[in-house]
Amino acid sequence: MTFAFGGPSRYTGKTLRAAHASMNLNEMHFNAVAENLQAALKDLKVPDDLIAQVMTIAGSVKSDVLNLPKEEPAAAKEETKPAPVKEEPASVKEESKAEPAKD
Ligand code: HEM
Repeated sequence: MTFAFGGPSRYTGKTLRAAHASMNLNEMHFNAVAENLQAALKDLKVPDDLIAQVMTIAGSVKSDVLNLPKEEPAAAKEETKPAPVKEEPASVKEESKAEPAKD
């Protein structure tokens, strides 16, 4: 947890994905931990905005903990790719150009 939440970076253990890979965890397990974490922070009177930040971070490691396919990095890479070649047929473009000429 300390590692995931940016605490002192003396953690040299496994990645979250490797550490949890053999545990057969599902959404229910993850949510149970997340809900307990949220309740504990609330009990400790941590301000709601900070709890919200913690929950966002917890959510961001979900795919690693549950060993799901990585979605976010792929989506982020997508944005840096060059624009895809337009699939629009040339004839369609010509038609739309021709239209405003009507009088
Ligand atoms: C926000 C979500 C979670 C975070 C940030 C987190 C973080 C960690 C970390 C850093 C470790 C140590 C890995 C190592 O070096 O061996 C660990 C181990 C472990 N985690 Fe999680 N975990 C999360 C969710 C869960 C969930 C949902 C479960 C099961 C319900 C779980 C069960 C365990 C268990 C059993 C270990 C091994 C403990 C041991 O062998 O000493 N974790 N977790």
